Amino acid sequence: MLDNTPSRTAEVVALIRALELSYYGEKSLLKDKYAGRFLSDFYMSIYNRLSILPEFVSFFVNGASLGLFDFITLRHAFMDSYVRKLGPQMPVVLLGAGYDSRSLRLREYIGHGIWEFDFPATQRRKKFYLRNERIEGDQPHYCEVDFMKESLPEIFGRSGLAKAPALILWEGVSMYVSEEIVRSTIKAVKEYFGPGSVLVFDYWHSTMNHPVKDMFQTVMPYLMDIIYNEKFTFGATTDEMRTLATGCGAKKFESYNGKQMMTKLSLTSRLPLTSASMAVIEF
Ligand SMILES: C[S@@+](CC[C@H](N)C(=O)[O-])C[C@H]1O[C@@H](n2cnc3c(N)ncnc32)[C@H](O)[C@@H]1O
Repeated sequence: MLDNTPSRTAEVVALIRALELSYYGEKSLLKDKYAGRFLSDFYMSIYNRLSILPEFVSFFVNGASLGLFDFITLRHAFMDSYVRKLGPQMPVVLLGAGYDSRSLRLREYIGHGIWEFDFPATQRRKKFYLRNERIEGDQPHYCEVDFMKESLPEIFGRSGLAKAPALILWEGVSMYVSEEIVRSTIKAVKEYFGPGSVLVFDYWHSTMNHPVKDMFQTVMPYLMDIIYNEKFTFGATTDEMRTLATGCGAKKFESYNGKQMMTKLSLTSRLPLTSASMAVIEF
């Protein structure tokens, strides 16, 4: 990530959510009508070219991205399902919120506020693009942070979050930080929010224990660095992640790959990549 530069990967995932709506329309999983607003000229030109094509083209777009398109859509829908389930009971906390529009899309399910944490550059850009949006009810709590430089308990403390159960979503971030940060994040969530809290995050698999698939796992971090200046720095197998989570005091750990997320969401028609999964930790 370049200093003082809004996250490009946050924009790429917003592009994917915008395309998902234009391809699937009423059948869209996310119906994220806000995602397109955050696109700069470059990404808007890609959106304009890809979105006018018919729905079946999404199959090729997903294929060209090796399943990333469908995985990113699914992980967002999967986390949405947790907001619908737990948002009415507890605050929703977004670590590395990017251009997430849940505060607008899922407003009716957010009964105890939503807190958005991100780098200043990304968050200020987001607020600028939403400056004319009429937000009914409570405003999201915006908090500028750098997870690599500050401790989470301090960050949570100054944000005004109560030390009480919360739903914490950490989407598309764990692969950009160190193992130590992943460990300290899980511990901080447990210690700050306590029993009853749920942490949901996706993680990259450092290895697939398969020679051909592992070539992709090795090359991907370098591609991310070359294209976006945002290199993958952390990955784990499901067993490694389970060990890490239980070592940090998780009461329950579950991991879902793309296909398992589809089963949970009663979906059959997507082809997500298999090189990342979703962790759900209950404390
Ligand atoms: C791939 S984007 C995902 C954004 C959003 N969660 C989503 O899925 O749409 C990663 C986000 O994490 C933020 N981020 C990455 N490293 C961070 C750090 N050290 N401190 C604060 N934010 C960080 C970036 O600014 C970016 O918004």
